[in-house]
Order: sequence, then structure tokens, then C-alpha cells
Amino acid sequence: MNKDIIILAIESSCDDTSAAVIRNGEILSNCIAGQKVHEEYGGVVPEIASRAHQANIVPVVDLALKKAGIKPSELTAIAFTRGPGLLGSLLVGVSFAKAMALSLNIPLIEVNHIQAHVLSHFIEAPRPALPFLCLTVSGGHTQILLIRDYLDMQELGTTIDDAAGEAFDKIGKIMGLGYPAGPIIDKMALEGKAIFEFSEPQVQGFDFSFSGLKTNVLRFLQKETKLNPNFINENLANLCASIQSRIVSILMNKLQKAVLETGVKEVAIAGGVSANSGLRKALENSGIKLGWNTYIPAFQYCTDNAAMIAMTAHFKYLKNEFTGQDTVPLARYDF
Ligand code: KG4
Ligand code: ZN
Repeated sequence: MNKDIIILAIESSCDDTSAAVIRNGEILSNCIAGQKVHEEYGGVVPEIASRAHQANIVPVVDLALKKAGIKPSELTAIAFTRGPGLLGSLLVGVSFAKAMALSLNIPLIEVNHIQAHVLSHFIEAPRPALPFLCLTVSGGHTQILLIRDYLDMQELGTTIDDAAGEAFDKIGKIMGLGYPAGPIIDKMALEGKAIFEFSEPQVQGFDFSFSGLKTNVLRFLQKETKLNPNFINENLANLCASIQSRIVSILMNKLQKAVLETGVKEVAIAGGVSANSGLRKALENSGIKLGWNTYIPAFQYCTDNAAMIAMTAHFKYLKNEFTGQDTVPLARYDF
């Protein structure tokens, strides 16, 4: 009888400590400890994040194993996020994974966080057919990727300045919203109409730019609040709807261009911003209108989670892609 492949995966690249267990490609548990402490600073404070990971990692791993009903002695490998991310945060997960693999005498598997966001689409049906395009949009990244095989991905375009999630968060901060502002803008946008026109950047190829939009919104708000100090409060829902609509149109226009130029009509979105209701609706509508097969991850697999790390590790295990004990985290990590 073949031995089961049971992997414990750890994600600690930013401000969520997460652990998941996967058996033969099926997720058994996915536990996440968030870090509310960053809200009062209006962004993730790296040193506070690494300390919180240090405090959370043992209880989160313990819970993930208990929920899965798996004993450490049953594990066949330990997987971890090697990067990209905050170095101090990554170090906690990498060191923990190394120590656990060493003590159990089982192999280690390193995972690229962005690749994992893409492969979150293979956790549950419907799964995209290969090759497919994936718009990966998070707080740190905005890319269009062509996925030829599970571990064979090519970047067609990326942002030349801010990431889409960063644009949501920075513009939200200008308007006095809490952190992260992405989900708040999304919720407020439902109550408003996109009546304000913000500029669309002119960027070559499949690349993106969001810093111009941020400046555009800032100047507009400075001008309007001079005339009416209450302008933001009185127009918050319409402002949110207008900003979201512009960010979504920037993303969708480039995605449409990528579909036209590659001829690939299997189209997915992934990463924290793929939780955005405007983007989800726009992708669905394009699918209906343009004959694409579209794939939107379940909410719990959009933002950072260890289930996606576990899924990627499963594919790597099948290809015998293991990592040595001399591995180090990488703040920047291309594939
Ligand atoms: O993937 P993720 O959890 O962490 C990174 O790897 O960055 O993404 C976090 C980002 C934040 O910028 C957050 O504002 C954004 O995803 N985000 C959203 C929504 N939910 C999360 N942005 C817009 N609408 C949402 N519903
Ligand atoms: Zn992420």
C-alpha cells in the first residue's frame, strides 16, 4: 500500500500566522492567527509582526494538527513560505519549520508565496485547466501570470510602483479610513455610485501603475476639502465606489489585453484583492461577455493562509522538490 503524503505547512510572510495540514492533496485544516495590533499604526509594523508570529506559531501549529486529527509522527514533510515577504516575519516560520523537520527527521519543502496564491485554485473545484492566466493582486504584488504547469509560471506584467492592495490601503488612509482599507472601501462602495472620474494611467504592455491614481485622488480631495471641509464624510460612499471602479478597470483592461494576446481563455484571480466584490463581479461579467472560463477563489483562500502553501507543497512533494536545512528566507523571491 502506498504511504499517505501528509504535509504540515506554515505561512508567516506578513502579519498572519497560519498553519495547515494536507493529506494526499486534500486540506484537513487551515488555522490563522491575525494581528489586529497593526490597525492603530495604519500599516504592518515589521518588528511587531515578527514578535507576534513568535508568540502565535506554536499554538497555531498545535491547533492545525489537532483539527486535522494528525500526530506529528504521522507527518511526511514540513512546508514553509520562503518569501517574498517581511524578513523578520519569514524568519519565524522558516526557523520553526527547520527545527520541526529536523526533530521528526522528515524533508523540508520551501514555497514561493505568490506561486501559492495562484495554486490556491487547486484546493477546491472548479479547478482551472492548464494553461491559464492569473491576475495575482495583493498588498505587495500585482502581476499577470501565465501558468503552463503547476510549478511553471511566467510573469507577463507587473506593477511599476504600488501594488493594487497598497493603492486601496494608501488611498483609504488619505480618506481617514482604518487599516487595511481595502475591505472597508469595498463595503462602502456598495452604498455608493462611481460618480467621480479618476485618471487611468498609460502604461506599456501588461504592466500596471497605481501611484498616479493615489496622487490624483489626493489632489482632488485637497481641492474639494478647501471648499467644503466635510467633503470626504459627505461623499464617502461615492468616493469609495469611484476609486474601486477605477482600480478594477485598470486591472481588468490589462487582463483583457493578456487574454487577447495569448489566446488563453481560462482566467483566474488570486491574492488579497481577489476578495474585492467589484473585481469578482467584473471578472464574472467579462467571462459571460467574452466567453472566458473564470475562477475566483473562496474567500478564505484569497487573503494569506497556509492551505495554499500546503497545496503548493503537495505538488512539489510529487516532484521530489525538497529543501536543505541551510535554506534562508528571501524578502524578494522570483520564480
Ligand atoms: O494577500 P494578502 O492577504 O497579503 C499580501 O500578501 O499582501 O493581501 C492583503 C491586501 C491588503 O492590501 C488589503 O487591503 C487587500 O488585500 N484586500 C482587499 C479586500 N480584502 C483584502 N482589497 C480590496 N477589497 C477587499 N475586499
Ligand atoms: Zn499574500
